[in-house]
Amino acid sequence: MEKSFTSFLLIVLLLLHYAMVGLAMTQSNITTDQLALLSLKSQIILEPSHFLDESWSPTISVCRWVGVTCGSRHQRVKFLNLSNMSLTGRIPGELGNLSFLVSLDLGSNNFHGHLPQEIAHLHRLKFLDLSVNNFRGKVPSWFGFLHHLQVLNLGNNNFTGSIPFSFFNMSTLEILNLNFKSDWKPYKP
Ligand SMILES: *[C@@H]1O[C@H](CO)[C@@H](O)[C@H](O)[C@H]1NC(C)=O
Ligand SMILES: *[C@@H]1O[C@H](CO)[C@@H](O)[C@H](O)[C@H]1NC(C)=O
Ligand SMILES: *[C@@H]1O[C@H](CO)[C@@H](O)[C@H](O)[C@H]1NC(C)=O
Ligand SMILES: *[C@@H]1O[C@H](CO)[C@@H](O)[C@H](O)[C@H]1NC(C)=O
Ligand SMILES: *[C@@H]1O[C@H](CO)[C@@H](O)[C@H](O)[C@H]1NC(C)=O
Ligand SMILES: *[C@@H]1O[C@H](CO)[C@@H](O)[C@H](O)[C@H]1NC(C)=O
Repeated sequence: MEKSFTSFLLIVLLLLHYAMVGLAMTQSNITTDQLALLSLKSQIILEPSHFLDESWSPTISVCRWVGVTCGSRHQRVKFLNLSNMSLTGRIPGELGNLSFLVSLDLGSNNFHGHLPQEIAHLHRLKFLDLSVNNFRGKVPSWFGFLHHLQVLNLGNNNFTGSIPFSFFNMSTLEILNLNFKSDWKPYKP
């Protein structure tokens, strides 16, 4: 009886140990945000203004990088605004590691390629502006996982196909733009 209780206790302790190790491995911090943004920078092949070139450096605190605003409570990247900076490049999956991101504005640039599915991990996201770029492929159905999204602006891109059913899951959505017009002005709140 006592022996089986001891082995039970041992197993519980062992499980607890693995849970703690697992937690430590998945725990993210501002370094995670820094790596995600540096990964984005590495995918930008053309940046005429050189803002990122000069400001997005590991020697400067991430929260002081151009276009980056951190939340005061967690000191994690909360707002990322790189709109209208003539940036050419792709969006890396690592951007989905910015787990405290509430607002992402990449509008009016020359981002291209497919949107990585990892963006769906940004579960705090309320504002997403990808308008006036050259993203292609089907309109992703994983937008439906962004349960707090209020503004989704995909206007003036090169998306194809139909509107996914998952869009019905975005119950907090207030503004959806899928427009394509050559003389169109992007919506800004
Ligand atoms: C972030 O976490 C990693 C391990 O997950 C650790 O090595 C690093 O020192 C932490 N950085 C900060 C700024 O807390
Ligand atoms: C991003 O910055 C531009 C230029 O400063 C501004 O017009 C726009 O409203 C900003 N976007 C957000 C979501 O605050
Ligand atoms: C984008 O920047 C250019 C100058 O580089 C400016 O003339 C234009 O008004 C800006 N557009 C928006 C939508 O902010
Ligand atoms: C960030 O994202 C990439 C790709 O999505 C992943 O491989 C990596 O482990 C993630 N975590 C950190 C802390 O960078
Ligand atoms: C839009 O995407 C299609 C392929 O899906 C491509 O053939 C076409 O060149 C793209 N248009 C522009 C303006 O990049
Ligand atoms: C919508 O959300 C429900 C519940 O969260 C889920 O079961 C369903 O698969 C989702 N539908 C789509 C199309 O994403």
